[in-house]
Amino acid sequence: MSDKATLTYEGKTYELPVVEGTENEKGIDISKLRALSGLITLDPGFKNTGSTRSAITYLDGENGILRYRGYSIEELAENASFLEVSYLIIYGELPNKSQYELFCKEITEHTLVHEEIKNILDGFPSNAHPMGVLSSLISSLTAFYPESLDPNRSSEEVHLSIIRIIAKIPTLASWAFKNEIGHPVNYPDNNLEYGSNFLKMMFAIPSEVYKSDPVLADALNKLLILHADHEQNCSTATVRIVGSSHASLYSSVSAGISALWGPLHGGANQAVIEMLEAIRADGGDVQKYMDKAKDKDDPFRLMGFGHRVYKNFDPRAKIIKKAADSVLAKLGVNDPVLEIAKGLEEVALKDPYFVERKLYPNVDFYSGIIYRAMGIPTQMFTVMFALGRLPGWISQWKEMRENNEPIGRPRQIYTGANERSFVNIGDRK
Ligand code: ACO
Repeated sequence: MSDKATLTYEGKTYELPVVEGTENEKGIDISKLRALSGLITLDPGFKNTGSTRSAITYLDGENGILRYRGYSIEELAENASFLEVSYLIIYGELPNKSQYELFCKEITEHTLVHEEIKNILDGFPSNAHPMGVLSSLISSLTAFYPESLDPNRSSEEVHLSIIRIIAKIPTLASWAFKNEIGHPVNYPDNNLEYGSNFLKMMFAIPSEVYKSDPVLADALNKLLILHADHEQNCSTATVRIVGSSHASLYSSVSAGISALWGPLHGGANQAVIEMLEAIRADGGDVQKYMDKAKDKDDPFRLMGFGHRVYKNFDPRAKIIKKAADSVLAKLGVNDPVLEIAKGLEEVALKDPYFVERKLYPNVDFYSGIIYRAMGIPTQMFTVMFALGRLPGWISQWKEMRENNEPIGRPRQIYTGANERSFVNIGDRK
């Protein structure tokens, strides 16, 4: 088989190398195309553009496969802890026992944040969306650790930044929530594992003894693992492109949090619950909303359905649906919104519009239902996603820097005015 593709344009033929990944997926390398032919490629939304070679996550959207460093998402969600998976994603291999213990110890030692961060928090209005607060607080870490701005740091120094951001994000995320509800912040409890410590900082009330719930901790562990990486999605591509200018890990992750916020990406989990609640408030007529979603003159979309790469099923949705069922059963939650979700799912899976376009429930369709059952408010859902996605952003930033990738700088096809002369303001029509 040829390892070259040919492109013919205006009578000239150009040969372009075909590159192949370890799972045999192929891509045409067009990096020399402009130099050879003067042409660029146009691909809005990068639907067909590979921006990097990456050894972190393998995703086969047609067959519903997701693997981190070769391990299936199903096996990891069933057997591993979130910090184990974080280590795997960032450093390439599962940690052995002593590596894991050291990693957990290092993270536990860095959970506190500088007290002055409270001054920044106090500057936000109390109704500030926690995603905006989190993005700002993560960016503010550059002020407390200015050495993180040096692009030529040793791997040990970069490791310390990595430990710090993983350790502090639960503290900062819970503080963003406390700001929103106007409560005093809680400090980390280093006797608890990662997820339970976060839940305690979210929900503990100073005058009451807080008891962590293993069912919730287990569900949270799974949710974080399922979100840990997803190759070159909108927020990860953002982290890589910001980092490609040699911006620090903290500022790159802060940009990733902003990219995640939108309702077409991580914000979808919040949008799903808001949509389900709106349907319920409107009398629960599922078919009415299905019709709206199919109407091209109506901007309404069925949130939590469809995915840029999964065109068969989202493997994370399968795992999370099971987890949602067991959390709701164990907690004895009877959520009317869940009934609407089930109704929508049933109708959509049979509807030709959704079937033809291969629109299936994605991970966000179910994650919001679990978060709701855990008592996490809707505004915090995307923050939960950010907690999970952090190791992915870190590993993609690290890989990009270690590979010494060039600064990200796409081209464009200009469609504006041709050259024209300046007209003085008095002479303009
Ligand atoms: N409801 C109704 N129609 C939809 C939906 C939906 N949720 N999703 C896609 N479609 C339709 C489009 O209108 C389009 O129809 P057409 O071919 O007749 O024009 C077709 O399906 C293809 O849709 P695109 O927007 O081209 O698909 P794309 O890959 O660009 O978008 C996306 C993927 C953004 C996820 C989209 O499916 C969507 O908006 N879903 C709802 C938001 C959501 O759940 N986002 C979370 C994604 S998962 C994550 O980020 C973790």
